[in-house]
Amino acid sequence: MEKEHSDLFTNETERQLYYIEKLNAVLKEKEALLGRKVTCHVTTFGCQMNARDSEKLLGILKNAGFLETDDEENADFVIFNTCTVRDNANQRVYGRLGALKSIVKKNPDKKIALCGCMMQENSVIEKLRKSYGFVNLIFGTHNLFKFAELCYRMYEEGEMIIDIWDKTDEIVEDLPVERKYSFKSGVNIMFGCNNFCTYCIVPYVRGRERSRNSIEIIREIEKLAKDGVKEVMLLGQNVNSYGKGLENEISFPELLKEVCKVEGIERIRFMTSHPKDLSDELIEVMKSSDKICRHLHLPLQSGSTKILTAMNRRYTKESYVELALKIRNEIPDIAITSDIIVGFPGETKEDIDDTIDVINTVSFDGAFTFVYSKRTGTPAAGMDNQVSEEFVRTHFDRVLKTVQDNAKAQAHKKTGRTEKVLVEEINEHDSSMVTGRLSNNLIVHFKGDKSLIGTIVNVKLNECKDFYYYGEMIGDC
Ligand code: 5AD
Ligand code: SF4
Repeated sequence: MEKEHSDLFTNETERQLYYIEKLNAVLKEKEALLGRKVTCHVTTFGCQMNARDSEKLLGILKNAGFLETDDEENADFVIFNTCTVRDNANQRVYGRLGALKSIVKKNPDKKIALCGCMMQENSVIEKLRKSYGFVNLIFGTHNLFKFAELCYRMYEEGEMIIDIWDKTDEIVEDLPVERKYSFKSGVNIMFGCNNFCTYCIVPYVRGRERSRNSIEIIREIEKLAKDGVKEVMLLGQNVNSYGKGLENEISFPELLKEVCKVEGIERIRFMTSHPKDLSDELIEVMKSSDKICRHLHLPLQSGSTKILTAMNRRYTKESYVELALKIRNEIPDIAITSDIIVGFPGETKEDIDDTIDVINTVSFDGAFTFVYSKRTGTPAAGMDNQVSEEFVRTHFDRVLKTVQDNAKAQAHKKTGRTEKVLVEEINEHDSSMVTGRLSNNLIVHFKGDKSLIGTIVNVKLNECKDFYYYGEMIGDC
């Protein structure tokens, strides 16, 4: 029956909007039986991409008539949007699923869906089939746009539905999105990754790099601006290679210039930049616009050329340092943050010394330090020189301390200055205060109320608490 209907649609968006309506009818019946709204809860694991995907899931759910709840235990429908970049992300999902098992036993009508990167791994699907038979719906990264249709089927069919695609060329536009924040939003500019760093599972679970058409991106950002959004974060695994393969190929810096022209958008961030593709043109464009935030996330991964080569990063210790110092020189107030992996196969004390040397030379404003996690199917997992846990224990703390010392020193430099701050929320611990973000991504807490949320104000950074500030508002911008 559904096949007949599908012939009526001119595109996938129409098809999914149709299923949102169908799901809505199903939920109305349920509501009548329950005497209340049907509730849902989405839990996000992992990166900003996943956070954005979860906003898409929620957009579909809310449009279909679900009521969002914070209460995972009692929600009628729970969705885990998973991550698999490191094994501990997988373990967390299994842990949470284990906890849900007994809850589902007590309430067999409760529905559970799993999606995201972890679902793209065959071994995960096998394990879920075998040990987590109570899960109702499993789908992957490539067919998230089909969520409404899959949900509808979940309610109609009753069997465990597994729909995982190996790849897709499709980018489905204009489906509903439910933003977490009214004043800021992520915007996908590309999907997937072609870099195949040897430790990384992302290219296998997110597929080949595909850029979104710049016209669609600008249209989305204009719509967001009309909706009151002031800050956008352009999202891609490697934004510096944006545009490749598009019919009207434009570079990432050219795209940034277009985004700068959108009226109402006052701040632009982007993530992530691969050092091998960062161009002088990008530095020029960043310099030329106040709208582009003074923050660059530039993952180093390792400071040793030997390890970088084994990681297939395609830059050297020297070329990374040269690039980072050039950026610091050209844009003096910029914050440079990074990702660092400790314990890659073959790593020695000398390699860690190189990493520490780069952290000190560039003086990162912050860095995520990760323990290397062996991901099945990646080239590094097959390397026969895996390092011991003891090596990691010894050297991780050295790296972390160096990162923290540099981050503190960088943060203290700004004490006493007055900076523009986008107010994000009421302070978690003191409701007479608000929390806002500087252009360089650091956080400041200061006296204020909820009327300030979403506004950009001047704040004097009175006291630096190493990784954040206490300040006072000096006035509107
Ligand atoms: N082990 C540890 N860290 C990893 N990352 C990616 N893959 C792995 C892995 N197998 C880190 C990288 C990347 C960040 C998003 O996650 O530092 O930049
Ligand atoms: Fe993974 Fe490397 Fe792609 Fe980043 S650039 S997602 S680390 S393969």
